[in-house]
Amino acid sequence: MDVTAKHDAAPITLDRLRKVYPDGTVAVEELGLEIGSGEVTVLIGPSGCGKSTVLRMVNRLIEPSGGRILIDGTDVTNADPTQLRRTIGYVIQNVGLFPHQNVRTNVGTVPRMLGWEKGRTAERTDELLELVGLPAAQYGKRYPHELSGGQRQRVGFARALAADPRVLLMDEPFSAVDPINRGRLQDEFLRLRRAVRKTTILVTHDLQEAIKLGDRIAVLSDHAQLQQYATPAELLARPGNEFVERFVGEDRGIMRLSVTPIPADGLRPVAEAGDGAPVVSSGATLREAFGVMLATGRGAVVVRDGDSPVGALTAADVQVALASAAVETPA
Ligand SMILES: Nc1ncnc2c1ncn2[C@@H]1O[C@H](COP(=O)(O)OP(=O)(O)OP(=O)(O)O)[C@@H](O)[C@H]1O
Ligand SMILES: [Mg+2]
Repeated sequence: MDVTAKHDAAPITLDRLRKVYPDGTVAVEELGLEIGSGEVTVLIGPSGCGKSTVLRMVNRLIEPSGGRILIDGTDVTNADPTQLRRTIGYVIQNVGLFPHQNVRTNVGTVPRMLGWEKGRTAERTDELLELVGLPAAQYGKRYPHELSGGQRQRVGFARALAADPRVLLMDEPFSAVDPINRGRLQDEFLRLRRAVRKTTILVTHDLQEAIKLGDRIAVLSDHAQLQQYATPAELLARPGNEFVERFVGEDRGIMRLSVTPIPADGLRPVAEAGDGAPVVSSGATLREAFGVMLATGRGAVVVRDGDSPVGALTAADVQVALASAAVETPA
């Protein structure tokens, strides 16, 4: 099965992007942002700060009032919007599946518009449904109302990927789903990302989600003013100003555990963990290690690389590791 990108992902540049609605509302004052090829950038900020407006300008559902959008170095602000949208996957909160079309037909929408041959569209549709965990044999003929909310969201995701777009835009894609399914969909998104690398802009209200899914996070305040643009680790370790500090809140120390790996150096001898100590993998984060200590009531874990124990980590070590974790500053 080959569902990996045939098209290369493309970098996106927002250059002094601006939107004033006809009634005079300044939704986006002047936004500049560089999104690396294949990266996931998360836009986060208070309600009404302009996140959706930014996203919808990228696929020209909304016309910018000023500035430029470059995709792979080409200014798309004058491109034909319909053509443009066929190269951009778009996923929104309530998915927007066509209610009178079955799952297969929904997923094949863009390939059909692009005039793909029937056999190719069918093959692509089946591949994608398999990828999102809804095998066509079982789900292909169902209608949207015969699916759960989370399943509809996955069909929306498959549809967005159908024509192998260069860019993926996602506006609060998981927010209408209950917390448990949201966690599952997020995990699935991360898994899919490894298979299908698309330059992605994802909008969310949820800081945990931003940290879990983003390569970089852009924190916006009213009128889409950029307050900080940083990796999750840097944002949590070094909020750039008071606005960001308030926005990330007091939990940022705890959240940092989940973006900090177990240190490779400086583990204690395995014996120090004691008999029957719980085990975590060397690829785990401090959060997993600390979580296991709390769940088992033990003060230390054995860190294992494959089958071989490589050292022990105590609760006190977790604090030291967090305090000394190097946080790269993005270029
Ligand atoms: N068609 C419109 N005409 C006038 N003002 C609009 C229009 N659409 C949006 N706005 C305003 O532009 C601002 C930004 O709206 P936008 O939908 O981009 O915010 P958002 O950050 O996505 O908010 P939320 O988190 O609530 O989804 C808001 O003040 C909103 O009221
Ligand atoms: Mg919005």
